[in-house]
Amino acid sequence: MKNSIKDKNILLGVTGGIAAYKSCDLSRKLMKEGAKINVVMTENAEKFVTALTFQYLTGNKVHTNMYDESESKISHIELADTSDLIIICPATASFISKYANGVADNLLLNILLASKADVIVCPAMNVNMYENKIVQENIKKLIKVGVQIIEPEKGELACGWVGKGKLADIDLIIEIVKKKYQKKTLKNESVLITAGATREYLDPVRFISNPSSGIMGQALGSEFKKRGAKVDIVAGHTDVNLNLFDHYTKVDSADEMKKIISKKLKSYSIVIKAAAVGDFKFKNKNKNKIKKDISPIVIEMEKNIDVLKFIGSRKTKNQILIGFSAETEKILVNSKKKIENKNLDFIVANDISKNGSGFGSDSNFTYLINSKNEIKKLGLKSKKYIAEKIADEVEKIRQD
Ligand code: CTP
Repeated sequence: MKNSIKDKNILLGVTGGIAAYKSCDLSRKLMKEGAKINVVMTENAEKFVTALTFQYLTGNKVHTNMYDESESKISHIELADTSDLIIICPATASFISKYANGVADNLLLNILLASKADVIVCPAMNVNMYENKIVQENIKKLIKVGVQIIEPEKGELACGWVGKGKLADIDLIIEIVKKKYQKKTLKNESVLITAGATREYLDPVRFISNPSSGIMGQALGSEFKKRGAKVDIVAGHTDVNLNLFDHYTKVDSADEMKKIISKKLKSYSIVIKAAAVGDFKFKNKNKNKIKKDISPIVIEMEKNIDVLKFIGSRKTKNQILIGFSAETEKILVNSKKKIENKNLDFIVANDISKNGSGFGSDSNFTYLINSKNEIKKLGLKSKKYIAEKIADEVEKIRQD
């Protein structure tokens, strides 16, 4: 999927608050996402950060003056017309109040009045100023005319007070900007994602499991949600928060996972099986804790149900079924067999013998293999990146 802010013209308006320095980071990160950045600073902003800093960071001339003699065109009109998005970061109480009331006594305010671009305002100020009724009324006014406000966070403020007024986290601002332009290409899809590690109990306190963290499942959930899909999660044990999705069911064993999944299986258009399901379970699960002095100790195990194979056997015509495969040898050959055996549309083959790849890590060394035997080597990439590629592949299947 195309990066949504790539080549967008973003005008970054910087006003005079201590958080102005954080805008430097914002400008760099937006550029890294492929956006073109023009910076406009108010006179007070220049007391905190110099125009030269932004000029070096963005490679573009920074605009500060309403009546710049070096400009051949009327700069506020040109900047207003050519911007897709204007982000005011940080926005002071004074700036917000002037903007909300149509005052235009500097370049940035003139641009805002003259522009039809989307506007995002990121307030940052003292907590009492932020909570002041006049400021709050002005923020409401801006929301009413379609301005998006990214609320400040609670925290220790530069002025010494603790409360709401700290500029929102820069990465959060980037995420919100990206989301704004994300095309909802999978909005008609209902996705089931399994994640994490199953546990097979021997008695109430002992179990066999694996170190799967659920990070891959979480990354997949976020990516499919971004693209507009409804996302349900059924997960074993994880180290991550999975409450952010439409529905989340926590399970222990493979049998429990199968039972939960089979109830609603038909309602999903896509099933992604990222969970690390245990292949074996104890033949007998003891109701009481086994005492250590029994001898000899013989614990019998038996094969678990293959949940993915079960789903594959019930797959309907329009359902897309994606499996994962963790291998230390013959990665491609073994993974291709799993596509056939489990009736998959494609498999994410993970070479867990590679450094930095595997359970619990933030990255995996993977290949995407489809049922036509086409192989895409992704190599060692973050789980977020892999999730994006999987969603791209799903989009491709839907377009075919
Ligand atoms: N899987 C499953 N139920 C199991 C075992 C695996 O649903 N009892 C699913 C996993 O969620 C994964 C895929 O099957 O999507 C492949 O899992 P993997 O552990 O790589 O392979 P196995 O099929 O278990 O075979 P082996 O362990 O022999 O490689």
